[in-house]
Amino acid sequence: MFKFLLFAVLATVALARRSPHADYIEELYKQNEGRYSSNVIEDALLDVPGLLLKYGYPIEIHKVITEDNYVLEAHRIPHGRGQLYDPNRPIVFVMHGLLSSSADFLVLGPGSGLGYILADAGYDVWLGNARGSYYSRQHLYLNPDQLGNADFWKFTYDEIGNIDLPSFIDYILDVTGKTQLHYIGHSQGCTTFLILNSLRPEYNEKFLSFQALAPAAYFIYNDFDFFKFAAPYEAPVTYINYNYLGLGEFLGNREALTWVAVNLCNEDGPIYRICQKIMSLESVGHVNTTITPIILGHTPAGASIRQLAHFGQAVNTKLFRRYSHRPIENIELYGSPVPPAYDVSQVTVPVHLYHGLGDYVTNSSDILYLAQQLNNVIGVKEVERPSFTHFDFIWGIDAKELVYDDVVAVLDEVEANKK
Ligand SMILES: *[C@@H]1O[C@H](CO)[C@@H](O)[C@H](O)[C@H]1NC(C)=O
Ligand SMILES: *[C@@H]1O[C@H](CO)[C@@H](O)[C@H](O)[C@H]1NC(C)=O
Repeated sequence: MFKFLLFAVLATVALARRSPHADYIEELYKQNEGRYSSNVIEDALLDVPGLLLKYGYPIEIHKVITEDNYVLEAHRIPHGRGQLYDPNRPIVFVMHGLLSSSADFLVLGPGSGLGYILADAGYDVWLGNARGSYYSRQHLYLNPDQLGNADFWKFTYDEIGNIDLPSFIDYILDVTGKTQLHYIGHSQGCTTFLILNSLRPEYNEKFLSFQALAPAAYFIYNDFDFFKFAAPYEAPVTYINYNYLGLGEFLGNREALTWVAVNLCNEDGPIYRICQKIMSLESVGHVNTTITPIILGHTPAGASIRQLAHFGQAVNTKLFRRYSHRPIENIELYGSPVPPAYDVSQVTVPVHLYHGLGDYVTNSSDILYLAQQLNNVIGVKEVERPSFTHFDFIWGIDAKELVYDDVVAVLDEVEANKK
């Protein structure tokens, strides 16, 4: 709990900028009556399969074992509410960002969350969960909770892209008997896609399209104060955590965090106002603050400290490259004292990029820079509302109108052109 409060306080300090657009949100409230959660506390406590069942969607839980023995969980929504299963449905794989989980695409509720929208639009939806996050905190031999031994946590988003993603993709294609699928990522969910197809270019042909919502790759133009403050401490903090404290996890205790969200952030809770304030900050996004307990009940969902450190290195070096260990280990692993850059020119999948001008986490200029490095960019969309933030892509009250409707249109178009 202390960790959470500290995080919340840090977030308040770091994010406090302007006051929210109250009128704009009021107006949307009126238009969207009934599109969200029917019971906020219930939805904060339910897990992803529970949410889908509650709202009348089919759910399958799939366990995927990686070559290095991590046990990952995928959540499949084979069809929409009140629809019948049809094996010809095109497949969409959706991947969450740092400290998140498959819940990201459901917290907005049916009619608003991307997972529900895709299923209702005729797609066979698979939501991935990266190693170390709430639903994939399992390994055949290593224990994520063993104190003083952080072996489970010795990974970064390099492994998520290079090992977890191909495990999911091969598994899904195998189970469904298909040869290709669509991919949608948010933030680190895009980082990992770029890593997969740079390191293993033979995977390109398995994807029909890649839609990148606020992709994290380059941090050249980013001027977020918190990153500038934290990034220089990346090396010592990581070293001390793994070698002295034996800790490798960051913000992983969903039960404790959900308890805070449900008991302290609810309408009668002692820190209700603080929770509301955080979620209504302009720099967080245009969030329906009524669903604050749902969002905080599902996020953060845990990550390895090394994942954060890897982003720290990207901010420090302004390079999109593999994780830097100590020079001697780098020589052993990569054959050179500095790690190699990911060669994103290897990505040949047709790409659609989405960026928001209010996104200080993955700055628009950095996303445009990424677009220049890629070889097959079909579309670059600046979200219409200029204050659109990183978190609006998953929590924004207008994410459906401003982003998801376009995402579905792109999928439909690719599918139509196939026929
Ligand atoms: C905000 O969330 C509450 C709880 O789910 C819901 O009743 C309300 O309709 C939502 N606002 C909008 C704009 O739908
Ligand atoms: C994005 O980067 C530019 C250039 O560094 C900066 O002026 C702008 O404020 C940044 N945008 C956000 C939302 O942080």
